[in-house]
Amino acid sequence: MQTEYKNTKNQGGFKQLLGYDFLQFYNFAYSQNEVLIIPKINKYPFLFLAFTSLIYLYIFNRTKAALQELKKQGIIPLYFYISFKIFPCNNIHNVFLTIIFAPQIKTFETMIIGVPKEIKNNENRVALTPGGAKELIKRGHTVYVQATAGNGSGFSDSEYEAAGANILPTIEATYDIAEMIMKVKEPIEPEYNLIKEDQLVFTYFHFASYEPLTKAMIANKSICLAYETVELPDRSLPLLVPMSEVAGRMSIQEGAKYLEKPLKGRGILLGGVPGVSPAKVLILGGGVVGTNAAKMAAGMGADVTIMDLSLPRLRYLDDVMPANVNTMMSNEYNIRKMLGSVDLIIGGVLIPGAKAPSLITRDMLKDMRPGTVLVDVAVDQGGCIETCKPTTHEDPIFIIDDIVHYCVANMPGAVPYTSTLALTNATLPYAINLANKGWKQACKEDEGLKKGLNVINGDIVYKAVGDAFNLPSVDVEQHLS
Ligand SMILES: NC(=O)c1ccc[n+]([C@@H]2O[C@H](COP(=O)([O-])OP(=O)(O)OC[C@H]3O[C@@H](n4cnc5c(N)ncnc54)[C@H](O)[C@@H]3O)[C@@H](O)[C@H]2O)c1
Repeated sequence: MQTEYKNTKNQGGFKQLLGYDFLQFYNFAYSQNEVLIIPKINKYPFLFLAFTSLIYLYIFNRTKAALQELKKQGIIPLYFYISFKIFPCNNIHNVFLTIIFAPQIKTFETMIIGVPKEIKNNENRVALTPGGAKELIKRGHTVYVQATAGNGSGFSDSEYEAAGANILPTIEATYDIAEMIMKVKEPIEPEYNLIKEDQLVFTYFHFASYEPLTKAMIANKSICLAYETVELPDRSLPLLVPMSEVAGRMSIQEGAKYLEKPLKGRGILLGGVPGVSPAKVLILGGGVVGTNAAKMAAGMGADVTIMDLSLPRLRYLDDVMPANVNTMMSNEYNIRKMLGSVDLIIGGVLIPGAKAPSLITRDMLKDMRPGTVLVDVAVDQGGCIETCKPTTHEDPIFIIDDIVHYCVANMPGAVPYTSTLALTNATLPYAINLANKGWKQACKEDEGLKKGLNVINGDIVYKAVGDAFNLPSVDVEQHLS
């Protein structure tokens, strides 16, 4: 069914009003006088007198602190709304209030948020649920969702409309209208030119793994806030965690599947059976992906080894993991020693913002048994297995030297019901903050969110991204002052 295009640009006059500059605002006030306000003066003279007197008293008798309080509580725009829509007032009154409050109005600007449908192969997640849209709309923002964007995750257009969002028929219309784009995966080529100068794009980018994307975002002068580099004070990555949890758990599910003989694996059951040894699983990186993979593999009865560079992390894992999980320091010697006996290798290392190091090199494949399965979860950061290149859910594996490579860069996309909810639980508080305060103010107030800024108006502001391609980067503060 063709979805009807709704020109909602003029809806929510109050919200639009708040974005107007002084002159536009005055013209608006003047025109409202003619049609709405003057006739009402005659109808409610006492109410008018009482209301305006109260306001004048408030303005003249209160101190600057009181005005600040008004501003903080958002009463000023509320007053305008009531004043223009319900109560009568006159021109002098309008001019007076405009002069007093026009500078304040700017601080109450609302944001237009666009949620395009993901176009990456088999990507069924969506960046905002109807519940999330409602939270933004409740705060005065306007949300546009591309038709059918939520279908893959089980959210229909009518659910978004019921939450107050507007449905747009095309990806072009969604990018065109929005000040902030909320996405899941990095923009892909057809989207590069839809992104505009000064448009805030809040999504996963994984810049360091793909130079053309980095160059395209530099060229379109957008503001790129990357989920994967937003940090918490303890340096953890709150917007990467939920998807790493999904991908880590899924890596074992997929690995177990491709170990089956008809799918080109060694033909070994992960947990073994009584009298037959279980499969051996090597997990590179003991972070969120690694821990979740280890839990699943251990639960299925496999013999698991986790390698990491961080000794405190290995100590922690040794404490919390079950008896069939061992820990080992990550280095070339230890990796090579294990290659001949493992059945499944999971790549889950990360150096934030940078390309993943190649821990399994091309020459190591010959040391593995035919049918060994490699699942490189870190492929979105360039991969930690040299022979890995990104694959899709449609065609997830390829084989080199009899070794099965699974390198899907958007693994959680295959389980959108789980992934969309897990992702939006984490991103929504940041999206609300960005919409309420604008990206500059929100990033000034939150050091962790500031770390998410990767490219701003043509400048790389995340050093590891610049270093990955030998491109210059500038200090993010240059753009925040
Ligand atoms: N393919 C997908 O669909 C998908 C989904 C989610 C996450 N990921 C990716 O998975 C990777 C891991 O994410 P995470 O959340 O677990 O990160 P994390 O920061 O929680 O863990 C990374 C771990 O790697 C370790 N490490 C770094 N260098 C190492 C080395 N040389 N040897 C061994 N360990 C090393 C770190 O000490 C850390 O413990 C990231 O690249 C992330 O983007 C991919």
